[in-house]
Amino acid sequence: MTLQQDSLRATSSIQDSPVNQKISAREQMEALNPEAKKLQFWIRTQKNAPAQEPWFSPVGADDSGKLASGQVAKNQLKALPYRWRWSDYRPYLDKISQISARADVAPVEFADRQSIVLMNPGLTERIQVTNTIRCSISIYNPGDIAPAHVHSPNASRTILTDNGGYTNIEGERCEARRGDVILTPNGTWHDHGNDGVEPVIWIDTLDWPLMEYLDCAWVDQDYQRTFGTAEKIQPVKYVDGYSQKLYSNGGLRPTFVSHQRGFSQKLTPLFHYSGVEIRNALITLKDEAGDPYEGISMELVNPVNGESVFPTLRYGAQLLRPSEATRFKRETSSSYFVVIQGEGYTEINGQKFDWEPNDVIAIPNFLWRRHVNTSGGDAILYTVSDATLMRNIGQYRAQGKDLEGTVIQLDL
Ligand SMILES: [Fe+2]
Repeated sequence: MTLQQDSLRATSSIQDSPVNQKISAREQMEALNPEAKKLQFWIRTQKNAPAQEPWFSPVGADDSGKLASGQVAKNQLKALPYRWRWSDYRPYLDKISQISARADVAPVEFADRQSIVLMNPGLTERIQVTNTIRCSISIYNPGDIAPAHVHSPNASRTILTDNGGYTNIEGERCEARRGDVILTPNGTWHDHGNDGVEPVIWIDTLDWPLMEYLDCAWVDQDYQRTFGTAEKIQPVKYVDGYSQKLYSNGGLRPTFVSHQRGFSQKLTPLFHYSGVEIRNALITLKDEAGDPYEGISMELVNPVNGESVFPTLRYGAQLLRPSEATRFKRETSSSYFVVIQGEGYTEINGQKFDWEPNDVIAIPNFLWRRHVNTSGGDAILYTVSDATLMRNIGQYRAQGKDLEGTVIQLDL
């Protein structure tokens, strides 16, 4: 029997039934669906639970909410807490570096980058660590370059090796040193390279999955056509430290330069956040009480307006003092953090993830989490979250637990 016949049978059996005789509504409606599918609609024949229980209400032993059901479950993206250990991924970077050094065709030629791309196990094989964030970890051998390009996703590099690489953004050459965060906002031309003597490693962070969802992810690799040049990399117009010199004078904003760099909106003109300066700022404040949920925490901000560096992502750095344990907190935003210094563990939804330098850990939204520093010294974590996006669309909320375990609403 054809689908059309099936559908016709269903409708005709309604007409054939005596008006006072009950019919199986679900069966009758389901029989219409094969035809309806061809017309790109679905006749609702089942309950569709939303993807989450109310995230702020405990739902039994597992506070994570539950998966959707019915038709809406088919496309649900539900990230899981996960840890990528430096001791696990570093050997692969070394192998890539060794292969590249003797390559017939450089990996950067056939794969665009030499990197591993992190995949959250809850998101099947999507190359993303949360619903909105992609992370890859790149290695550049001495002499490697990534030609100039520009793209719609906002991006950054968090530098893991001591020194040696660079990123040129809109003509400003930023030397990469451990703990630095170098931003390449949406709409800024940039190229990368390593003119040192050792391989360099950094984490690339992008809001790429969000742009993909919006069908707005694009990359323009054609620097030569755009600027009518034979070069694949940008000339250096500003030396290392240029944007820091302009914008790092505590509360003073220069008025003789345009803050528009690149061709997008809402982008920070400060491209280079120094790891040394971030660390010094945290240490200077370490005798303050701090935040019971975050320790001594700071946000990397756009110095022109004090807002997040990107309209989508929030970049934070926090210091946990020796033996400090934060209280439990949960947010509507998702994040990942990388360990810059120290050892400890993070509990996420009852799971314990111990960590050491360069480990990367994903914290999906809604899950209770707390950090514990087990080092004898300070621990420093860098977090990237989509809290800024959630705030900008009016969806950011957070809760904490006080010392008695009572749930309280946190700052909006
Ligand atoms: Fe890029």
